[in-house]
Order: sequence, then C-alpha cells, then structure tokens
Amino acid sequence: MSVQIKSEQDIAGMRVAGRLAAELLDYLTPHVQPGVTTREIDRLAHDYMIDVQQTIPATLNYAPPGHTPYPASLCTSVNHVVCHGIPGERKLKAGDIANIDVTVIKDGYHGDTSRMFFVGPPPIQAKRLCEVTYESMWKGIRAVRPGAQLGDIGYVIQKHAEGHGYSIVREFCGHGIGKNFHEEPQVLHYGRPGTGLRLMPGMTFTIEPMVNAGRPGIRCLADGWTIVTADHSLSAQWEHTVLVTADGFEILTQSDGTPPPA
Ligand code: MF3
Ligand code: CO
Ligand code: CO
Repeated sequence: MSVQIKSEQDIAGMRVAGRLAAELLDYLTPHVQPGVTTREIDRLAHDYMIDVQQTIPATLNYAPPGHTPYPASLCTSVNHVVCHGIPGERKLKAGDIANIDVTVIKDGYHGDTSRMFFVGPPPIQAKRLCEVTYESMWKGIRAVRPGAQLGDIGYVIQKHAEGHGYSIVREFCGHGIGKNFHEEPQVLHYGRPGTGLRLMPGMTFTIEPMVNAGRPGIRCLADGWTIVTADHSLSAQWEHTVLVTADGFEILTQSDGTPPPA
C-alpha cells in the first residue's frame, strides 16, 4: 500500500483519535511520580482507554512480522531506554526521565503520541536532552507543508540534535498512520534537504525523533522489544501525529495538556 491521501472523513476520525491519545497522556501525567511502577501506569492507561474513552490500546498484542506480541497498553522508556520499553515492576525514582508513548484506536483510526516526563527534579543534562529533542521534533513539524520533502524534515531534526552534540537513532522512524498503526511513508529523523517523498495535503504521519546523549548505536534486550542505547547514555523522544494541510501542518495529537510549541 503506497502513501494515502486521507479523505475529509478520515481526517475527522484522526482528529478525534489524536485528541484522545493526547488526553490519555494528560490523564497519566500526575501519576508519573517517584515510587510508581511502570506497570501501574500501564494499568491506569489500559483502564482509562477501555472504561472512559472507549478506545482500543493499539500496542496491546501488536505483533509486526518478526516480533512476539507486545504485552502492554503503552510503552515506558526510562533513562537509557530508547523506545518500546515494556512496563514492569520497576519503580520510578527521582531524577529519572521517562518517555510514555501511547497509541489509541477510535472508530478504526489511530492516534499516536509520546512525551518525556521528569520524575522529580531532573538532572540538568537530562533536562537539556529532553528540551533539545522537543525542539528537534518541532523543527521537523514546522518543515511540514505541501511541496516540502521528507528529507527536509529529517535534515532539520538531525541538524538541531547533532548541533548540540547529541545523536539521532537511525533504526526507528516516524510513519504514516490512519486506519493502520504503521503505514507508508517512513519518516526518517535524518537526511538531506531536497530529497525524498514530496508532501501533499491530506497525508498523515508521525514525527518522533529519538535522540541519544551519547553514541547513536542501540541494542535490543532479550525480551525482543526493549531498545536501549549501546553505550548506556540517556535517550529522549517526543512524538506527534501531524496532517499536511493546504498551507502547512495541523497537529492531530493535541489536548489541553499538550506542551506549548518550541
Ligand atoms: N507507539 C510506537 C510508535 O510510535 C510504536 C509502539 S509498538 C509497540 O510507533 F509494540 F512497541 F508498542
Ligand atoms: Co508512538
Ligand atoms: Co509512532
């Protein structure tokens, strides 16, 4: 299946799913505290999706080719975990940084978003990594307009992160999204301007840069999902689902608690 142009009806459905995903993060925010286990956060999210939102947790039992089914309703990636951290008995502690990544399905449409959370006051280098990663995502988002190319997005993200001495994870990327969780195109977080797919109104995809404080290399743990930095340096990630509009972009994963633009 090639890159789809969404209909007005699709876009309306994606606005709803995107808002619900963001509202789920809003709901979880006060619970991200020292002493809370990531499994407790997963349980809260699962119950909120099922009982309050009547959404489906897209990650639960998600099994792309070559993977065992993912066992939780969200991903919790703490400190040197890059992405796809599986919630468990680990208690969050002051000074941790945690990415919480949620994807909900509402009326067949997906909304996918993640934010970084500080558990207690953050160490200064951790805070800076999270800020620069957020700015990188926003630089990518601001590059979205009809006629721009995917390489333009990747380039500004990479330039900002590397300009601060950080590195971009290459093995994972943003993705088209709609009735499918992951669809074309792949949205790389590095690249060269003037290369790649040309954007058209009605495309919907995520921008979700993973930025490492140290080297870009990663490793997958024996659970088959958890991705960590090979050098154990800290890693941060932010994610929005965006729509290409007639004259720019619209962020679909917005709620009252969405952090302001960088
Ligand atoms: N939400 C992630 C993304 O941004 C995907 C998680 S898939 C899982 O694409 F199976 F690991 F949950
Ligand atoms: Co996600
Ligand atoms: Co995504």
